[in-house]
Amino acid sequence: MQTTTSLKDSPLSFKLTEDQTLIRDMVREISENEFAPKAAEVDQKHRFPRENWELLAASDLCGLPFPEEYGGAGLDHLTYALVVEELAKACATTSVMYSAHVSLTATPVYEFGNEEQRERILKPMCSGEKMGAFCLSEPGTGSDSAAATCMAELKGDTFILNGSKNWITNGIEADWYLVIAQTDSSKRHKGLVALMVEKGSEGFTFGKLEDKLGIRGSSTCQIMFDNTPVPKANMLAEIGDGFKVAMSTLDGGRIGIAAQAVGIAQGAWNHALKYTKERQAFGKYIGEFQAIRHMLAEMQTEIDAARLLTHHASVAQDRGEKFSREAAHAKLYAAEVAMRSTVKCVQIFGGYGYVSEYPVERYMRDAKITEIYEGTSEIQRLVIASSLLKGN
Ligand code: CAA
Repeated sequence: MQTTTSLKDSPLSFKLTEDQTLIRDMVREISENEFAPKAAEVDQKHRFPRENWELLAASDLCGLPFPEEYGGAGLDHLTYALVVEELAKACATTSVMYSAHVSLTATPVYEFGNEEQRERILKPMCSGEKMGAFCLSEPGTGSDSAAATCMAELKGDTFILNGSKNWITNGIEADWYLVIAQTDSSKRHKGLVALMVEKGSEGFTFGKLEDKLGIRGSSTCQIMFDNTPVPKANMLAEIGDGFKVAMSTLDGGRIGIAAQAVGIAQGAWNHALKYTKERQAFGKYIGEFQAIRHMLAEMQTEIDAARLLTHHASVAQDRGEKFSREAAHAKLYAAEVAMRSTVKCVQIFGGYGYVSEYPVERYMRDAKITEIYEGTSEIQRLVIASSLLKGN
């Protein structure tokens, strides 16, 4: 049968451009040579790999999706997803340090900031001179973001912040903190405001670093504000827009976490494949057993499907379409695939999978957080269902 459109022209085809392939391969090389060899040490010592951040900055990756006039690389979000996947294949800690900076902090400054804020705050973030962190959850509010109790009271041209924020990725390491705070509790989500708070501000302190199951090199802590002054000039959008800033930021962030989950799953699978060609049992390589072959085939099928959903969401974002549901589909599926397949990879390694001599137990521990942060899998189902019921 004659077709007029080849598969590569189809909107559902994700054949990468030459630039996308070049960037992906460059990041793969850096990740394999520089990040992978020390990923186990970073995990075991709970060490924040500052030198990895410096290498990302030196490779012009910290401002990847932002226009060149702000010091960005002017690349698309599909390229960003490819980069996050490559980082996560080698070191999940490095991928979340990067995505919390790009998706969750630099992006809202670009999207909701004015020109002065883009010059003053975004530019040094694009160069990697400054690192970002996103502060939405609180000790008492996780999924119910609108219930935030951290207060921002406007006095003249200054907000006075009081309260705390929990689970802050890049915790003590960041320079700029995007804080969603409440200006009027009676208004719930309509009272929230988004403020850029600088490290070193008066009354801004850090709690203890969390001792986590996975992504153990990433710096996660509580932050506290005690009468912290924040200039009104650091407010993104307007008073009352904080919830929309947070939600639309999370839409993009969820694509980053989907890419991270795909990378974790693929990284573990790559180690498992190699092992099936080295390990022998009953006189043959374990990769010759049908039980193992089926596991490898099923895992790779699911990983490819998760990658396609992730790229589909990135392309929707690049086209300027509404992409909340696409991002939720990608994050939900990719996170669950990462969890399922890393458990199977540990199984393939048997006893060796359960000890730190091989890296698959680390991938399994790293995978779990992708089902929790930037909206749990239950929240993704809620976002998807409410979009379906509204017919959009
Ligand atoms: N973009 C823009 N606006 C949005 C939006 C979106 N994606 N989703 C909702 N809104 C708007 C709605 O249009 C509505 O606007 P109006 O009031 O003008 O009508 C308003 O926000 C309220 O919407 P909902 O009634 O749907 O809000 P809700 O209170 O029911 O909450 C929710 C919806 C989906 C549960 C949301 O609270 C949510 O996503 N929660 C999860 C929070 C989360 O992901 N936290 C992760 C923490 S960050 C993290 O993990 C960081 C890290 O460091 C790695």
